[in-house]
Order: sequence, then C-alpha cells, then structure tokens
Amino acid sequence: MNITLRQLQVFEKVARRLSFTHAAQELYLTQPAVSMQIKLLEDNLGLPLLERLGKKLYLTEAGREIYRLSRTIASQLQETEQVLEAIKGTEGGTLTISVVSTVHYFAIRALANFCKSFPKVRIDLKVTNRQGLLRLLEENATDLALMGKPPADWDLIAEAFMDNPLVVIAPPGHTLCQQQEIPLAKLEKETFLIREQGSGTRGAVESFFKRKGLSISGSMEMNTNTAIIHGVAEGLGLGIVSLHTIQRELDDGRLVILNVDSFPLMRKWYLAHRSGKKLSHAAEAFKTFVKEHAWEFMDHAPEKTGRA
Ligand code: PGA
Repeated sequence: MNITLRQLQVFEKVARRLSFTHAAQELYLTQPAVSMQIKLLEDNLGLPLLERLGKKLYLTEAGREIYRLSRTIASQLQETEQVLEAIKGTEGGTLTISVVSTVHYFAIRALANFCKSFPKVRIDLKVTNRQGLLRLLEENATDLALMGKPPADWDLIAEAFMDNPLVVIAPPGHTLCQQQEIPLAKLEKETFLIREQGSGTRGAVESFFKRKGLSISGSMEMNTNTAIIHGVAEGLGLGIVSLHTIQRELDDGRLVILNVDSFPLMRKWYLAHRSGKKLSHAAEAFKTFVKEHAWEFMDHAPEKTGRA
C-alpha cells in the first residue's frame, strides 16, 4: 500500500462527518483539495471507500476498515504528541478540552485565568451539547471534558467540581414575577423556550417534570443556552437555565429568577476524561487548576441566588 498519513487524516475527517464540506472546513482546505486526497487514497488502494446514495454519503466495507485504521493512527499520534509534550514540560503543549455549551461561560473565564499562569499552553476548546461531547469522548477526540453528570456505565474518571443550579427565568414584568412559591403545576400553562434534543439541561428538566407527573410545553426550541437567555429577555417565553450563565442579565435587570416550588434544580458540573487516557501536562495542570480555583471565577455562589 502506498498510502500517506495526510490521505488518512483527510479521510478520517470525511468519514467521521460523512461530509466533504465539513471535513474541508475542519481542515481549512477547499472541497476540491479534500476530494483529491480521497481520490488518491482510493486509487492507491484500488477500492472505493465512499458511496453516494441520493444526497447521503456512506462508507463502503473497505471505507469502514480504513476509517478504523485512520482513527487508530490519529489517536496514537495524539498520544505520542502528548508524551512528547510531557517530556518538554508543563510550560508549553496543547490543552484539548471540550465543554457542554452551558459550561462555556465558566470555561472561558477559567481558561483566561489559567493562561495567565501557563501562557505558553495552546488551547483547543470545543463547545457542544451533551450528546456531542459524549461523542468526542467516545472518539478519544478530547483530553478533558467539563459536563453534567457523566453516564454511570462509561469508563471515565469524573469528579464533580461545582454545583450547577438550574433556575426558572422570566423577563421583568412577567405576571409570575411578583408571586412567591409558584406551584410547579402552574408552569404547565406557560410557554417555555427549550434546548435541543441532546442537551443535558433539557434532559434534566424533562426527567424532573416527568418524575413530578407534569410536562411543560416547549413550543420554541433553540440550540444554544445564549439564544434561550436572549429569547426570554425579549419576552418570548420562560426558560430553565443554569444560574451560572445569567449573571450579566440579572445584573442589568433584563431577567429575573422566578420563585418556583422545588427550584433551583440542583445539578453538578463534572471534570471528566477517559480512564487510561494519558493526559498531557497541560491537561493535568488545568485539571488541578479547575479543582482548586473553580469558585473564584463565578460571580454567583448558589447561596447568593437572587429571587424576583
Ligand atoms: P447542555 O449540558 O449544555 O448540553 O445542556 C449541560 C449539562 O449537562 O449540565
């Protein structure tokens, strides 16, 4: 076989996303450049690796084999890179970290402070939802993850590092703002802006209301926490979000927290990585940093929760 590492790297991206366009974006290449690498690889192997049925791209049997090979090589290269970084010492190296979207407000602050102590560390941050983050962990495509409670049956090392209270938010002036101890059932009549399928916040909210034998109507679905916050501030409906993500809006008076029975819902944020993962020195340093300093980057400790 006369195949090159570059061809395998490009194929791995195309096969993972099943899209030439996404692969080209991730690799900062043009789409024809990606197609050319795939064609060279197929010519070298003498077999088609991808097939297009209708608009969708599929892996052929040979494609699945080569995808497995390319993933193994990619993860071994990454591990070798990290071992070499470790040999170089903590000063430099790359911190590959993925966070659920709700945590990114915290993560950015933590990284900004971390970089003051470790200015030579290169940061590779991915922000996604819970489902996306679990995929990255599964693919061994991230060193560390900051997320809600990880699935119990996954082979992960996970440690809770902060409480994550979920609160019900409304625009100021909403009829429920003046009420105390609003019964949960009253929320059934309200319109909620809810997160997309695959969001950890959405999962937690749905199972909470299910346990209570209630359901809230999410007639508006939005795929970022920020969109929900802005939507609620604009009066589109109510939302349930992490207290840690609404500091600015509370301070500016653009949002209020409703005093709802059983709220806040207490969740936790976890720092997780696959067990057996060889963490780079940069990742080890960040892990320690989060455990020791997390609370310093939050304006709102839960006990300071404001009520309308
Ligand atoms: P989300 O995750 O950003 O996907 O809603 C938050 C969480 O699981 O705590």
